[in-house]
This record gives sequence, structure tokens and C-alpha cells, in this order.
Amino acid sequence: MANLSPDIFLKLHTAAESAAGKSYAPYSGFRVGAALFFDDGIVTAGCNVENVSYSLTICAERTALVRAIAENGSARKIVAIAVINLNKAASPPCGACLQMLSEFVAPDAVICFPTDSGMVEKQFRELLPFAFTDWKTDDDARG
Ligand code: THU
Repeated sequence: MANLSPDIFLKLHTAAESAAGKSYAPYSGFRVGAALFFDDGIVTAGCNVENVSYSLTICAERTALVRAIAENGSARKIVAIAVINLNKAASPPCGACLQMLSEFVAPDAVICFPTDSGMVEKQFRELLPFAFTDWKTDDDARG
């Protein structure tokens, strides 16, 4: 791990693993956990929750995000994210999750996830350098 302190990494990893243990993944069997570390020191974790419709499935990262906002509001920034799975497989976060997280990450936020060669740590912005942002200008009427 490049920048994340071993303490924080361990805390996030443990929280993500515990969340993955609660994953509801009867269709894919892929059990994912994600933990978010906010700038106020709070860690919030989530797991994937699947649905028989398949398309309504929610990834672990977005579960963690909506849980964090529901519990503690939206004023804080995410400084570190860990994603793990219980299947010993590579699992970088999907594009939908990156886009949703992008609205709440600090500029230097880092993200750790499993690859075929072990856990890696990247800058969040490396994974989604062109996140979609508000298309309106200051001159545009809002609402
Ligand atoms: N999944 C996640 O939880 N996070 C990701 O970033 C990618 C995929 C879940 C969704 C689904 O329940 C399972 O992994 C298989 O795609």
C-alpha cells in the first residue's frame, strides 16, 4: 500500500470483510464488501445486495455510500476506500460505483482493491479521471 497508513488500511479491510460476510449474493455467489473512511474518522461499510431481476442488484460500494449518507449526512468527504471479496478474485470497483462515489471523494482519496497480483492502492482519480460532473454553468438557471 503506497499512502494509506497500515492502521487505516487494516481498519478498512476488516470492516469490508465483515460486511462481505453479510453479502446477499445468491445469484452470482460473488460476495463483496466495501468500506469508506471519511474525513471525520468514521468508517462505514456495505455489501452487495442482489435481486432475482439481476439488474436491480446494488454493489457493495454503493451500499456503503448510501448507508453512510443516511447515517451521517452528506457534508463529509471520503478519504479512503477499501473493496474486498470473499472469492479470492480480482475486483476493481465498477464504473457505476466510481461515478457515484466521485461526488463524495476528497481530491486525494485513495482506493484499495484486489487484483490478480494482490491488493493495490490507487488514487481515486486514476480510476475515474473524467467523472461526469454538473453540466450546468453558473449562468444557467438551476432547478
Ligand atoms: N459487485 C460489487 O459489489 N462491486 C463491484 O464493484 C462490482 C460487482 C457485485 C455486484 C454483484 O452482486 C456481484 O458483484 C457480481 O457482479
